[in-house]
Amino acid sequence: MKTRNIAIFASGRGSNARAILEKETVYNYHVALIIVSNPKAAVLHLAKENNRPFLILDKKNFQDTSEILETLKGHQIDLICLAGFLWKVPPYLIQSFPDKIINIHPALLPKYSGKGMYGIHVHKAVVSSQETTSGITIHLVNEEYDKGRILHQETIQLNESETAQSLADRILVLEHKWFPQVIGAFITT
Ligand code: GRF
Repeated sequence: MKTRNIAIFASGRGSNARAILEKETVYNYHVALIIVSNPKAAVLHLAKENNRPFLILDKKNFQDTSEILETLKGHQIDLICLAGFLWKVPPYLIQSFPDKIINIHPALLPKYSGKGMYGIHVHKAVVSSQETTSGITIHLVNEEYDKGRILHQETIQLNESETAQSLADRILVLEHKWFPQVIGAFITT
């Protein structure tokens, strides 16, 4: 079967991007492009280390024009994976990749979603609400923030002594295990 090309969109340290790259041959996809919203993001080093084409976005250009579609087309991208991408995905991009954009969220959607709910803020909210469980959600992206079809969820129990940081650490391990696997399974459907 033809290896499908994916583009990773990321804004920060890029640990999920790394996990996705490391599992390319296991799940038969190819990271053909890495797109970053922040020129200082560590994920940029990952692109350079692995000799992958990358693009640094300009916010206004990204939201107001569809120039990026040419780049995605040029790299024959089949699927977009948002791995810690902090900007809103503009409607033209969602319409051009219907059911072809996947996001990972470090909580059990629909809980703890929406504006401001990213990174450690999510885990602080979960712990301060005295939840007994949390987890990860891998879902399709549509025009409603964090509301696309859920592809996969994994749940963990919170410990008595759980802190936002300990929860973040445990959840990250789950993300690295499941995101590449779900991408690999979804891309063949
Ligand atoms: C992850 O927790 C992911 O769930 C969220 O952003 C974080 C990105 O972390 N969407 P990293 O940059 O992949 O290390």
